[in-house]
Amino acid sequence: MREFSLLVMVALAASVSCVDNWWKSAVVYQIYPRSFKDSNGDGIGDLNGITQKLSYLKDTGIDAIWLSPMFQSPMYDFGYDIADYRKIAPEYGTMEDFDALMAAAKKLGIRVILDYVPNHTSNESDWFVKSAQRDPNYADYYIWAHGKPDPKNPDYVGPPNNWVSVFRKSAWEYNSVRGQYYLHQFVIGQPDLNYRSAKVREEMKDVLRFWLEKGVSGFRIDAVNMLYEVDPSNFNGQYPDEPVSGAAGLTPEDYDYLSHIYTRDQNETYDLIYDWRAVLDEYTEKHNESKIMMTEAYTKLPRMMRYYGDQTRNGSIPFNFLYLGELNNQSSAREIKTVIDKWMAYMPAGKVANWVNGNHDQSRLASRFGTDRVDAMNMLALILPGISVTYQGEELGMTDGYVSWKDTKDPQACNTDDPVNYWKSSRDPARTPFHWDANTSAGFSTSSSTWLPVADNYNTVNLAAQMSAAKSHYKFYKDVVAVKRLPAVRSGDLDVRALCESVLAVARLLPGHPVVIGVMNLSDKEVPVDLSSMHLLPQQLQVETSGIKCSLEKGAKVQKENVTMPSHCALVLTSLQKCC
Ligand code: GLC
Repeated sequence: MREFSLLVMVALAASVSCVDNWWKSAVVYQIYPRSFKDSNGDGIGDLNGITQKLSYLKDTGIDAIWLSPMFQSPMYDFGYDIADYRKIAPEYGTMEDFDALMAAAKKLGIRVILDYVPNHTSNESDWFVKSAQRDPNYADYYIWAHGKPDPKNPDYVGPPNNWVSVFRKSAWEYNSVRGQYYLHQFVIGQPDLNYRSAKVREEMKDVLRFWLEKGVSGFRIDAVNMLYEVDPSNFNGQYPDEPVSGAAGLTPEDYDYLSHIYTRDQNETYDLIYDWRAVLDEYTEKHNESKIMMTEAYTKLPRMMRYYGDQTRNGSIPFNFLYLGELNNQSSAREIKTVIDKWMAYMPAGKVANWVNGNHDQSRLASRFGTDRVDAMNMLALILPGISVTYQGEELGMTDGYVSWKDTKDPQACNTDDPVNYWKSSRDPARTPFHWDANTSAGFSTSSSTWLPVADNYNTVNLAAQMSAAKSHYKFYKDVVAVKRLPAVRSGDLDVRALCESVLAVARLLPGHPVVIGVMNLSDKEVPVDLSSMHLLPQQLQVETSGIKCSLEKGAKVQKENVTMPSHCALVLTSLQKCC
């Protein structure tokens, strides 16, 4: 019997170790389907458009695409308000189109990751309609509460408490069918699911299984730190008011007016994430593929790190948003190093890092850092250890497009009701269509009218132009994606140095392989760089690839004490001798 269990253990260990953790050093490319490629000329991107462009992504060398939601939705929040988790939005295509996309991606060796939006559904979801009708099977699917009578005006029953939506104003909406308020932490059309209901937890696991059965390679999970609200049974069945944050210049309608101690980062969240990880793990052997799970939580680092797992259970890869939140076009090499060190220091041992340089909710990389820093910031996200996440268009250095108040679609901007300052909260500029070429609508659509306007600079900043130019952001990006495949970058040690205020060098070292070093000059001046203080760096180096601001070309040989870095040059060097 003992021998038998030993045998089983050995067999299990062998079967688990056979499965490749492909995502450990992957390039994940985020596609916002509405803005990637329109195949039918209606001005809205779609699934067939993505399928048509898979060969571009293959050629670029990325490992996986993450599709922002393409499920059935009234599109109040452009797909993040899902009416049916198992159906495709008709404006994006059909389930057959999705299956065709999956098959084409598989053929090319590109993995498909879906966006899983568990915090809320659409208010047009059947679940919500039934919950409002108090159908016993769905009655507790959402967060319902009675309103609070206004002591000054007994005829008026206001929201249950002071909670505010991320998109401004009360987070509660009255539903006359049910005669109660429901919670929506985002738009009115996004009622929050109630994860204190075991049925909801099971239902949502089945949603994961539905798409896993279709062969997807994992999920990006939306707004995870908002999944649970405080347990009302600890507050006499009420949802308590949140305290005022004290942040200056805000009104009670602004989200940051309150400290969200009851609606974010509740302890129960982590177990839910670990449970979802376990659902993904059910498919590891079945598909002979380790599934990826990345979670979105804008929160403090110690809390963020808990998503990775605890002593007994595996969790997710929490998105690293430090690049987005703590760096900008003024950041020095020292500040960038500090941000890198911070993530690596907080990350639990044995876990995989990740570097997110943009997404559909943030101003574009080129607009945040300035076009001069595009090569440097793209290179950094690719050369650091772990997963690199690229939002569509960042490889070209696309900038934020101008979107007038009249053309504005983002609910976050529309809810400001402010035709002058709306742009400060608008996410539309980062969502304008992808620039394929200099033709009609930048080659995104055959229609000249697109759901958001195409950015003005598409004539000069577009893929076709960058493919034919001798040097371009795209060509450099593609080269560095190839560099990410080198053994030292896949699994080597990391040595990050701020060699002066404006020069950052990142070396990756693996015994028996050439050292790979990314160097960037963030200043307006040429800087002579001496890399000899870097750990175990061989003497002779060669330029692997160089960005658009560099004069040293591929194959040029340099000595480590003497590398001339023109203003805003970003380049990758490899050592002629092996490490170390
Ligand atoms: C996430 C999404 C964002 C969406 C919100 C609500 O932050 O990235 O686009 O509006 O969740 O689902």
